[in-house]
Amino acid sequence: MPHTERWALILGASSGFGAATARALAEAGFNIFGVHLDLKATLPRAKQVQADIQAHGRKAIFFNKNVADDRNRAEIIAKIQEHLHKAGGGFIEVVLHSIAFGNLKRYIADDPKDAVDRKALEMTLDTMANSLVYWTQDLVRAKLVGRGTKIYAMTSAGSHRVFLGYGPVSAAKAALESHVRQLALELIAQGICVNAIQAGAAYTPALRMIPGHEEAVARVKEMHPDKRLTKPEDVAHLIVALTDPRVDWVTGTVIRVDGGEDNW
Ligand SMILES: NC(=O)c1ccc[n+]([C@@H]2O[C@H](COP(=O)([O-])OP(=O)(O)OC[C@H]3O[C@@H](n4cnc5c(N)ncnc54)[C@H](O)[C@@H]3O)[C@@H](O)[C@H]2O)c1
Repeated sequence: MPHTERWALILGASSGFGAATARALAEAGFNIFGVHLDLKATLPRAKQVQADIQAHGRKAIFFNKNVADDRNRAEIIAKIQEHLHKAGGGFIEVVLHSIAFGNLKRYIADDPKDAVDRKALEMTLDTMANSLVYWTQDLVRAKLVGRGTKIYAMTSAGSHRVFLGYGPVSAAKAALESHVRQLALELIAQGICVNAIQAGAAYTPALRMIPGHEEAVARVKEMHPDKRLTKPEDVAHLIVALTDPRVDWVTGTVIRVDGGEDNW
């Protein structure tokens, strides 16, 4: 039986941008492989995203695992292969890396306990930036992505601006954008596009963790002519629009979805 099913893989599928994109892609006809990391208190969020995908008549195959772990990645990719094989074939058309798992300490503090240390800095870069490279390598090797696949990674203005308490994540965003350019270069001949999406401030659980986020939110709202923040759906709708196969020459760049916020 020839495969007609469309598939997306969302890393960070249970909340924020990842959850909104999973829902919007399901509405547009995609089945979703989702990876997320939730403990008991937040697990209902993941279940709700799965239920919403299924309500659109689509499949939701979710894995509650740390994306930065090599063994987890290998197991999940093997399960995806097995699933698509049983379904008669298919490949992943959209990949979204939308992982918020960063250390938010300052670099400089009188007490070393209050400052970021090597382990925390490396964990932040590994999870929020380098994991994009490892997932892409393995998806390409497994032939789960190919001509027509679009890979996106969520970045922020922090890649080129400074905010107190955002140092490790800023560094991860700068590295992530560099990885996007390099992957785009190395994958264009295979017909795979790789881009970063720079979202404006959106009121998600990740934003609420950032020290001083209330002031930043108030400043954005104050300055924005529309008096609103970015919504996860703003990014989701862009990703759905770009599933048009005729859009195949946008790669290696940062697409801003911020209502102009970064110009101010
Ligand atoms: N919220 C904002 O204002 C904003 C703005 C620009 C960019 N971003 C970026 O967008 C991305 C998503 O952020 P969000 O605001 O949607 O966050 P969120 O907290 O709403 O969602 C984060 C998702 O990542 C998953 N996750 C976290 N660590 C994980 C791990 N180790 N393994 C597997 N899954 C893991 C969570 O389970 C959740 O599904 C992040 O990269 C963030 O830096 C956020």
